[in-house]
Amino acid sequence: MYSDADILSLLLGRRAGHSLPQAFYSDGDVFQADMKNIWHKDWVFAVPSAEVPKSGNYVTLQIGAYSIIIVRGADGVLRAFHNSCRHRGSRICSAAKGSAPKLVCPYHQWTYELDGKLLWAREMGPEFKPEDHGLKTVHCVDVSGMVFICLAKVAPDTRDLEQQAARYLGPHDLSNLKVAHQSTIVEKANWKLVLENNRECYHCSGSHPSLCRTFPDDPNLVGADDASSSNVGKAHVERCENAGLPSKYMISENEQWRFVRIPFLGDAVSYTMDGKAAVSKRIGSIPFDDAGTCLFFHYPNTWNHFLSDQVLTFRVLPIGPMETEVTTTWLVHKDAQEGVDYDLNRLSEVWIHTNDEDRRIVEENQIGINSPAYEPGPYSPVQESGVIQFIDWYAQSLENALIGRFRVAAE
Ligand code: FES
Ligand SMILES: [Fe+2]
Repeated sequence: MYSDADILSLLLGRRAGHSLPQAFYSDGDVFQADMKNIWHKDWVFAVPSAEVPKSGNYVTLQIGAYSIIIVRGADGVLRAFHNSCRHRGSRICSAAKGSAPKLVCPYHQWTYELDGKLLWAREMGPEFKPEDHGLKTVHCVDVSGMVFICLAKVAPDTRDLEQQAARYLGPHDLSNLKVAHQSTIVEKANWKLVLENNRECYHCSGSHPSLCRTFPDDPNLVGADDASSSNVGKAHVERCENAGLPSKYMISENEQWRFVRIPFLGDAVSYTMDGKAAVSKRIGSIPFDDAGTCLFFHYPNTWNHFLSDQVLTFRVLPIGPMETEVTTTWLVHKDAQEGVDYDLNRLSEVWIHTNDEDRRIVEENQIGINSPAYEPGPYSPVQESGVIQFIDWYAQSLENALIGRFRVAAE
């Protein structure tokens, strides 16, 4: 049993530059603290807006105990609601995605408009006020085609993120893309191990033969440092910026999100086995095929790649202390035709292999951490600066929330 005070003291006593104490990767109380103080407070990436392109299209997702519906209204606006009927609480939509003209609760058929208003409820008596029984809303924002939701009462400000996303992601024009493929896998590991693994390429050469054909594992490009510490990175950024494509490394003040555009290896232009484009239709206003990949992470749950021929989004959702869902979505130009402009296997194979390789890595990491012999080990300052940066963000976020709680309780 770990109380909030225990978790705070573990955080304050942790060794900087080292992996976290075992409880942070396996304990149920720490997991609940993560959910309450991070996942239910912060913006969480839900879907690319291209996944719900038309009025009535919806997706559902589970964040801890909360089930959420994201639906596009008759007015074209995306909204998020708690997936819990205002009658007796039944879940309204059980499918992961679908399309419907109205949201109808399966229990007693209370019927809601796509904007959440209660439209119809049978024989509720003369006193019943439908206007008091609309679906409860969840904060929802479309950030240049990436939909984020926030379960907090008051959501953190997104103006800065929206502004920078418009610069970096705008040229990839996500509103004119479509979902070509999606995969969801479950990794038997704590969500932080999934993020840690993503934030370094120390493991890449030993684990990712397909990815390493095109993706550079130079830590100066993919770590926490400015891309200009690599000459190749610097030249790439300059060339893209001169062509009007924002590419310079930029990180938010609280280091929760970052953009940077990096080159592929040699003359590769995409994540394919031969490095050639996977899709013949270039997206948005990207000026040349070899624009590399714009990397965008936003903690706690997403990293993404924006290329000249495709966009790859990754969504991480915790299921339990040692179980995490990872959804990858491949987006291509909405007019690109499968079998003509792209081959699905060619488009998706590199990251399907890579995801599976990463799943095995983090599952082995989890098993090793579960041993009583585990003790926090040192991150490589050269190769794992991105992991150090993520863990510092995590520890600081949880510390702030827990200290804030004690302060409120003491007042
Ligand atoms: S619980 Fe939804 S209609 Fe009764
Ligand atoms: Fe990996």
